[in-house]
Amino acid sequence: MRTRQYTLQDHPGIIAVADALPEWFDQDARTRAIPLDLRHQEGFVAIVDGIVVGFITLYVFEGRLQIGWLGVKPEYRGQGVGSLLLSRSEEFGRKHDLEEIATYTVGEGVDYAPYAATREFYYRRGFTVYQRNRTDNPGCLEEIKIRKRIANRER
Ligand SMILES: CC(C)(COP(=O)(O)OP(=O)(O)OC[C@H]1O[C@@H](n2cnc3c(N)ncnc32)[C@H](O)[C@@H]1OP(=O)(O)O)[C@@H](O)C(=O)NCCC(=O)NCCS
Repeated sequence: MRTRQYTLQDHPGIIAVADALPEWFDQDARTRAIPLDLRHQEGFVAIVDGIVVGFITLYVFEGRLQIGWLGVKPEYRGQGVGSLLLSRSEEFGRKHDLEEIATYTVGEGVDYAPYAATREFYYRRGFTVYQRNRTDNPGCLEEIKIRKRIANRER
């Protein structure tokens, strides 16, 4: 497996990964939001035998490196692909003088097992909650913002 920054040619492969994760990415995400965001964000893909098996998209907001989308093909889960994409992103953030990496996801207040696994993935890699918001989105009544310090130097 190798990782590299994604290019336009990788977009169909990335969308195929998202299509394999309908429990996390609904139809609007898969057909509208992810394809558009790919064009305006940057990030990395993980490649096995020339096929995209995982991806992460990144943008900078409020002085933090934000994870837009992250996904690994179900058959490649648990093999370190997600961790590798995250550590490549942290390295990218340090190179750009950013001190934190952050994202938002579905909070504990929503009883939905797929996102419980997502939170666990982030918590075990050092992310902590810095804000909880109630929303009026029926699919996600509680949203959490999570972050992790990536700078080498002390604050
Ligand atoms: C979260 C996700 C990106 C992690 O990717 P991954 O390649 O499985 O990550 P890693 O292999 O580095 O680590 C997987 C973790 O799941 C555990 N795991 C092992 N086998 C697993 C399996 N078959 N299925 C799920 N998780 C498994 C691993 O033990 C590891 O946990 P730990 O190291 O904290 O104990 C991936 O599961 C995924 O695509 N999830 C759906 C989309 C999503 O949640 N995206 C993020 C929010 S947008």
